[in-house]
Parts: sequence; structure tokens; C-alpha cells
Amino acid sequence: MQILDGKVCSDFYRAQVSETVKKIIALNEKPPRLSVFLVGDNQSSAMYIRMKEKACRETGIETRTHVLSEETSEADIIELIKKENADSQTSGILVQLPLPKKYNETRILSNIEAAKDADCFLPENIGHMFLGNKETVISCTPLGVMKLLNYYKIDVAGKDVCIIGRSNIVGKPLALLMLAANATVTICHSKTKNLPEVAKRADILVAAIGRARMIDETYVKPGAVVVDVGINHVEVGNGKSETCGDCDFEKISKVAGAITPVPKGVGPMTIAMVLYNTVYNYILMKKLDIKMDIGPKF
Ligand code: GUN
Repeated sequence: MQILDGKVCSDFYRAQVSETVKKIIALNEKPPRLSVFLVGDNQSSAMYIRMKEKACRETGIETRTHVLSEETSEADIIELIKKENADSQTSGILVQLPLPKKYNETRILSNIEAAKDADCFLPENIGHMFLGNKETVISCTPLGVMKLLNYYKIDVAGKDVCIIGRSNIVGKPLALLMLAANATVTICHSKTKNLPEVAKRADILVAAIGRARMIDETYVKPGAVVVDVGINHVEVGNGKSETCGDCDFEKISKVAGAITPVPKGVGPMTIAMVLYNTVYNYILMKKLDIKMDIGPKF
């Protein structure tokens, strides 16, 4: 059973991003900047933002983080987003989700200029991805999953891929990328009948449901590749918690051919792809003659 190590793999892609930033600076450009919005006091969001900031620093991308209290008005957040839109060094804008309930997420996100969308959350960019256009950012976690499989030379063409979860951030865009890479794709969700049976047909099983250790060996065909997108925090007593995926790693590792661990699986790949999108946006924005060959493969 092979462990698909997201840390090792993300280091590889981050090194490529770093090389590309060096090429940008060699053209007398400023470093690309990722501007991040953290609103409210969600501890997980704060942790993800710190990880993204650190990854940017390590690859030469500048960051600017707007840490805003829940008292901030929607109009004030939008005004700050518009300032970032107008700043020619900012090539990535990222509003960490979920926002506190009082805000209208769609309305806030719609103010990000499409050319600076670091997440591929905007309809225009999702449309480009749908159509298979090359000059676009790609949803970070789905792109990270494709790159991880690519790194480990796991070809998806002709394979049966089952994705459990249909979110706009993971399940739906990943299905598009898998389809573009010639996989036969099944998307399952909470209303799918005989879920273990359907999942067990898959050569590649992706769990993206956000329920701790829900997927066990009864969902997995012997030898299948299992990609665990879940990041769940479960109480283990004494006020302590641990991080686990949507898969029961111990049970699945007895039957699977390969599996991503949690942590150090898909998570670091998502972060690497935020960097990728920020740098790719910069190259497109400034029309620089630099190839980024870690780009999406369609
Ligand atoms: N919240 C959970 N995942 C993500 C992500 O990929 N991007 C943003 N902006 N927020 C998230």
C-alpha cells in the first residue's frame, strides 16, 4: 500500500512556483501579491490563512492579510476588495470561507475582479474551467488532487472515478477536471442509494463529504486509489482534538492500493495551488512572456 504524500508532492510544485516568481522578478516586476480576507474568529480559518501566508513567504509571493472583526460592515469589506482590485501588484484575492452567517458570501465574492480570483470561485472562471479554456485559474483543491495523482504517475484516463461529495469547491469542479482527463466519473452524495456498493466499483475513490472517518473498507475496491479530501477536527477528551479525514485510514489501508493521509495529504496541495493561481494570474495580468508548465492539463 502506497502513501500519497502531499507534503513531498507540494514541495515539488512549490519549487516550480518559486522558480516562476524568480523569472517574474528578473523582468523587473514586483513580486505577485496574494491579498487575503479573514473575517470573524473562526479558528480553523485563521490557521489556514497562517499556512497560506507562510507558503507565500517561502515561495517569494507577497501577502497582505485583512483581519476584520465580525462587526465590519459588508460595504467596508467590499470597499477593501475594490482597493485590492485596483492595486496592480495584487494578483490573488482570497476571502476565506465560511464567512460569519450575517454576510452574503456570494455578494461579497462577486466584487473580486475575475482576473484576481485566487480560488476560482467566480462564475466567469468556473465557466472557463467548464469549457476547458487554458487561460484561467482552477479550483485549488481539485487541481491539487489532479497534480498529486500526476506526481505519483496515477493515470486517470479510462478509470472509474467515484467522487463522494458535490460541493462547489471540491466535488463539482473535480468531476470536471477528471472528465477532462478522460476518466469515467460518478458523483455521489447523501441521497445516493447503496453508496458503499457504488463507491466499491471505483478505481479511484475521492472522499469529500466533511464527515470524520465515514468511509471505511466496505467502500473500497481492493487495490483502489483513495484520495481523502476531508479535514475534520474531532474531540479526543481532555479538551484536546485531533485532525482526521473523511476516511478511516487504518481500515482502508488494509485494502487500498494507495491512499492520501490526513494531515499531509490533499491539504498541502490545496495551499500549493493557491500559490500557483496567484502567480498564474500575475503572468496573465501583466502579459509576461513566461510559461507556467505546471498549469492545468486538459
Ligand atoms: N474554506 C475552505 N476551503 C477554502 C478554500 O479553498 N478557499 C477559501 N477561500 N476558503 C475555503
